[in-house]
Amino acid sequence: MTSWDPEQYNRFADERARPFHELVARIPTKDAVAVVDLGCGPGTMTATLAARWPDAAVLGIDSSPAMISAAGPLQTAQLRFQLGDVAGWRPQRGSVDVIVANAALQWVPDHATLLPIWAAALDDGGTLAFQVPCFTFTAIEDVVSAPRWAPLLSAALESTGPRSNSPVLTPQEYVQILAGAGLTVDVWQTTYHHVLPGDDPVLEWFSGTGLRPYFDALSGQDLADFRAEVAARLRSAYPREPFGTILPFPRLFVVAHRP
Ligand SMILES: C[S@@+](CC[C@H](N)C(=O)[O-])C[C@H]1O[C@@H](n2cnc3c(N)ncnc32)[C@H](O)[C@@H]1O
Repeated sequence: MTSWDPEQYNRFADERARPFHELVARIPTKDAVAVVDLGCGPGTMTATLAARWPDAAVLGIDSSPAMISAAGPLQTAQLRFQLGDVAGWRPQRGSVDVIVANAALQWVPDHATLLPIWAAALDDGGTLAFQVPCFTFTAIEDVVSAPRWAPLLSAALESTGPRSNSPVLTPQEYVQILAGAGLTVDVWQTTYHHVLPGDDPVLEWFSGTGLRPYFDALSGQDLADFRAEVAARLRSAYPREPFGTILPFPRLFVVAHRP
């Protein structure tokens, strides 16, 4: 399993928070009793759900012990965090008002089969809302598939991330699945153009997410060499300019509501 580092992940907290807020702003559900945040990460975003629905019990679920541990101090009587794989989450029919999964389902291989189960869990007036990055990260893929690295990284390649075999579906497929489950579906795409400060900021960004499976699979000199190769490739793909480094980042948003 990929190891997550809450500190590294939080290095771009503002940039990562914005899609979450833009997703949640489109959720029409007014009153909620039960709210769940799937792949909640360090819990900071989950806490904003507790503020938006103050009468709801809010549960954050994440499979990373480090993330759940980072979220621990945020717990209140209203807000709880639980270690678990969302692939195994089986809520009862009609038992949840809001399900959020921000920047998480790209890590869940068969989430297409889970969506109808989560749709059925929504009570009347409830909403399932998720956001996934939607791009092929060729600069990293090129390095990963090079002869030196492919044999060492084959197991990591089985895991998911911002790569061509990512489990992220097309907007049309998400509409078909969720409309087929009786929901009204709102789908849109946005490409953020983040302007990142510092040296190698794109490497730093993906060190907190998509590069983790590869870093976990390597050690010693291999890890140092791989990191240096990826850094060089990213520097040429995303050149540093006087004002910073531009990282274009397309994201797909889905808000599906049970009328
Ligand atoms: C990019 S972070 C997003 C965190 C948070 N939702 C946010 O918006 O800041 C992805 C999170 O999904 C979690 N995750 C990945 N696969 C998971 C799974 N199968 N079950 C539960 N959590 C998972 C990771 O541990 C990580 O914390």
